[in-house]
Amino acid sequence: MKKFEFDLAVLGLGYVGLPLAVEATNSKLKVMGFDVNANLVANLSNFKSHVEDISNQQLEHAVASGLLFSTKSEVLSECKHLVISVPTPLTDYQPDLSFVENASRDIANNLQSGHIVILESTTYPGTTLEVVKPILESISGLTAGIDFFLGYSPERIDPGNQVWKFKNTPKIVSGINQESTNAIASFYKSIINEVVEVSGTREAEMVKLLENTYRQVNIALINELAILCKMLDIDIWEVVDAAKTKPFGFQSFRPGPGVGGHCIPIDPKYLSFKTRQIGHPVRFVELAQEINNSMPHYVVTRITEIMNKNAVLMKNSNVLLLGVAYKKDIGDTRESPALDIIEELVAKEVSISYYDPFVESLVVNGLSIKKENEINNLQNYDLILIHTAHSEFSSIEFDKINCLIFDTTGTFRSKNIEKI
Ligand SMILES: NC(=O)c1ccc[n+]([C@@H]2O[C@H](COP(=O)([O-])OP(=O)(O)OC[C@H]3O[C@@H](n4cnc5c(N)ncnc54)[C@H](O)[C@@H]3O)[C@@H](O)[C@H]2O)c1
Repeated sequence: MKKFEFDLAVLGLGYVGLPLAVEATNSKLKVMGFDVNANLVANLSNFKSHVEDISNQQLEHAVASGLLFSTKSEVLSECKHLVISVPTPLTDYQPDLSFVENASRDIANNLQSGHIVILESTTYPGTTLEVVKPILESISGLTAGIDFFLGYSPERIDPGNQVWKFKNTPKIVSGINQESTNAIASFYKSIINEVVEVSGTREAEMVKLLENTYRQVNIALINELAILCKMLDIDIWEVVDAAKTKPFGFQSFRPGPGVGGHCIPIDPKYLSFKTRQIGHPVRFVELAQEINNSMPHYVVTRITEIMNKNAVLMKNSNVLLLGVAYKKDIGDTRESPALDIIEELVAKEVSISYYDPFVESLVVNGLSIKKENEINNLQNYDLILIHTAHSEFSSIEFDKINCLIFDTTGTFRSKNIEKI
C-alpha cells in the first residue's frame, strides 16, 4: 500500500472546505487545500480568509502548522484522504453537478491504490454511486471498494454559529461498502467528536436533504402564518415566543424576508429533481418554495403600506437596508432575499443604500448599490429596512432614530419599529 505524504486534500476551499482544512490541520493532520481559483489560493497563502468562521489569524496559525494550498491537481496523488467540497448549484433550475464531475476527474487522474475519496457536497441521493464512482473507476482503471475507498459524508456546517461548530457537530458517514465506511469513519473520528454511521451513501445523501427540506418547509409555514397573523392583527412574534415555551413536540422557527444562502433555497430542489425522475414531485417542497420565494415581494408590499400610512412618497424615497447577507453575522449574499427586495424597490424608483459590516460591495442586476460606511449616519433615510439581524446592530438606539423603521427579523424592540 502506498505511503502518502499528506493525510488529507480538501478540494474546494469555500465555506465548507476551508474550515475542514484548518480544523484538520489543528488536529495535527498534514493537509493540502486544493482549489481551481488561483486568486483564492494566493489570498489564502497570504493568510487572507474569505470565510467569516476562519479569521486571518486562525489561517496564519494553520499555515504555520503546515497547511498548504495549491491549484495543481497532481498534488492529489500524494494525499491519502480526498474530500470533495465543491459547489452544487442549480443551472436553469436543474442540479448542476459539473463541479463535482470536474473534481472527480482531477482525482481520477491522480488516483492511487489506498486512496479514500469522500464527497461532502450536498446533492441528490445516488450521486456518489451513479456520478462519482463511474468517473473514478473509468479514468483510473481501479475498482472502488477494493483498490480505493469511496463514500459520502454530508457537511452540516452552520456559518456564524458560535455553539455548534465543526468539532462538536456529529458527522454522518457512509461508504459504498463496509471497508469504505470503516476507513471514512476512522478518518472523521480523528478530527470530529462524534461520528454517526449510516448503511449506504444514498441514505447519507438523503440525510442532508431531509435536514434542509425540514428547515425550508417549517420556515415557509411560519412565513405564511406571519402574513395571515398580520391580516388578523395578531402579533406573530409574541405567538412564536409563547409557543416555544412548550418543552416538547414543538421547534420554533421565525418569520423573515425569505430564505437565502447555498443550502435552503437550493438543496430541496435536488430532492424534487430526483423524485420527479420516478414521477413524483415532493409536494411539500414545491409549496414551501413558492411561499418562501414570495416573501421579498411581501416585504416590498409592507414597505409600500408603511410609507403610505405615513404619507411618504415611495418614488425617489431613500431606503437603507441594514444587513444584506442572507443570515446573521456572515457576509454571504448568495440567494439573499435582499437581492430581490432591492430589485423590486429599484424598479419603483426608490434610491437604495445598504449598511452591512460583512459585505464589502453589492451589485444587483448590474447596478452597484451604494454602501453606507457610518452606522451612526442613520437619520438621512425615509425608511430603514432591517433585513439581517447582525449582532453589531444591537448597539443601535432605534428609538432615537427619526425615520420609518421596518424590522423583517423581529429582533429589535422599540415603539417606532414596524414588524413583519
Ligand atoms: N455554505 C454552507 O453553509 C454549506 C453547508 C453545508 C453544505 N454545503 C454544501 O457544500 C458544498 C460547497 O459549498 P460552499 O458553500 O463551501 O461553496 P463555495 O462556493 O463557498 O466554495 C466552493 C469552492 O470550490 C471551488 N471549486 C470549484 N470547482 C472546483 C474543482 N473542480 N476543484 C477544486 N475546487 C473547486 C471554488 O473555486 C470555491 O472556492 C455545496 O455542495 C454546498 O451545498 C454548504
